[in-house]
Amino acid sequence: MRAAFLLVAVSAALLFGCSSAPPPPPFRPITDVKELMNSVIDPSADVIWNSVATIQSVGQTEERRPHTDEQWTAVRDSAIIVAESGNLLMMVPRAKDGDVWMKMAQGLIDAGSEARRGAEAKNPDAVFDAGANIYYACSNCHVRYIDEIKNVYPNGPPDVTK
Ligand code: HEC
Repeated sequence: MRAAFLLVAVSAALLFGCSSAPPPPPFRPITDVKELMNSVIDPSADVIWNSVATIQSVGQTEERRPHTDEQWTAVRDSAIIVAESGNLLMMVPRAKDGDVWMKMAQGLIDAGSEARRGAEAKNPDAVFDAGANIYYACSNCHVRYIDEIKNVYPNGPPDVTK
């Protein structure tokens, strides 16, 4: 009796639960991984990497830092683009698998979010450190998924970190 009741309850849940589930979002990916790298991710990472730098030339040192609110906002906006791009990489048909690829994409979200926090705090050192972590996130995926780079490591990809 109890089992029968449970069965009815489960059937009802399946019937009503599934029939009222919303349809999947109508995602319409319009680019592939390569173009996403060149058009979105790489230019945005460049804004972050170029924002805090020490440039030494003969007789002088330039300490490059964002100064105005507008400059800090540009860094923050680029960090948001880098972080959200991790989600774009996870989408079909760009995702290469459901395991390591997802972790690599999450690494980009983490590092991009770190840069965003650094820019919002207007902290050049934090942006610099986040920039390094972004670089590691890019490289960790590239050593695993770009054949020309992967083939350099016959014993398996290294973990690219500090
Ligand atoms: C989750 C994996 C992943 C992450 C993270 C990632 N990439 Fe890539 N990237 C790829 C793959 C795969 C390719 C090769 C695409 C192809 O040739 O089809 C690529 C290619 C590229 C290319 C070469 C594009 C070309 O024209 O051949 C650039 C530049 C690039 N990535 C920049 C970056 C930068 C900068 C970051 C970090 C801010 C980054 N990528 C993060 C997977 C990733």
